[in-house]
Amino acid sequence: MGKARIVRPDFGGAFPAHIAVIMDGNGRWAERRGMQRILGHREGIASVREITTECARMGVESLTLYAFSAENWKRPTLEVRTLMQLLRLFLVKERATLMENDVRLSAIGRLEELPKAALAELRRTEEQTRANQGMRLRLALSYGSRSEVADALKKVIEDARAGRLDAADVDEETLRRYLYDPATPDPDLVIRTAGEMRLSNFLLWQASYSELYVSSVCWPEFRKAELHEALRAYASRKRKFGGLDQDGRDADARARRSRRGA
Ligand code: IPE
Ligand code: IPE
Ligand code: MG
Repeated sequence: MGKARIVRPDFGGAFPAHIAVIMDGNGRWAERRGMQRILGHREGIASVREITTECARMGVESLTLYAFSAENWKRPTLEVRTLMQLLRLFLVKERATLMENDVRLSAIGRLEELPKAALAELRRTEEQTRANQGMRLRLALSYGSRSEVADALKKVIEDARAGRLDAADVDEETLRRYLYDPATPDPDLVIRTAGEMRLSNFLLWQASYSELYVSSVCWPEFRKAELHEALRAYASRKRKFGGLDQDGRDADARARRSRRGA
């Protein structure tokens, strides 16, 4: 795949390297139109396509989309089954768009809980897009932050028992290495659509210092213009990471380096 040309509007400030989105409000979007909830999920796929393409075009490095939570299994069987069918269709149908945009797809969550057919298409799409050099698209599927931490803890205990890990060496970076996808940096911006002001078990550890943006627009209507609005809001934020200025994080890294005598 050739390198795609990056076209980024000027948002008047910093631009996020990693955007994470809680794609909420599909059901409400449909219900308000007297339609079945599942039609909202179907329409939501058009937003996934538009937001993914636009993020890739603007040079976002990573985009994480919360598509199905660990708690969403509690929904009626028919809705869950249809969501899984839509996921499978998405993975097959969007391969061409992902290739066109040089996007590499991966997933986080308890993927072994997905239906076999959906998991097989996920693996195929990951495989086909593996060499793409542009944006990384991560789907959070059967994902819950608490299960991620529980899964991490299990592996920590295994490694400690096997003598590969010493309690004295455990710090934040150690814990990060046991999370689902340690290589992807924390999200800079977490967007939630449809107005709810909660994280719903999404990236609790990783979003510690993310900027939060809530849009009142339901996911099926969240498109390029709404994304740009979120990016303008992000550009105007002042991130401090507990320090006194925008460089709080850099200052912290500098301080750690100098403590280590580097
Ligand atoms: C988000 O839309 C999609 C999933 C959680 C799978 P919802 O289905 O939660 O829509 P609302 O919140 O009921 O409107
Ligand atoms: C969060 O939305 C999960 C996804 C968007 C996949 P929910 O609709 O499941 O969250 P709650 O139940 O309103 O907190
Ligand atoms: Mg919802």
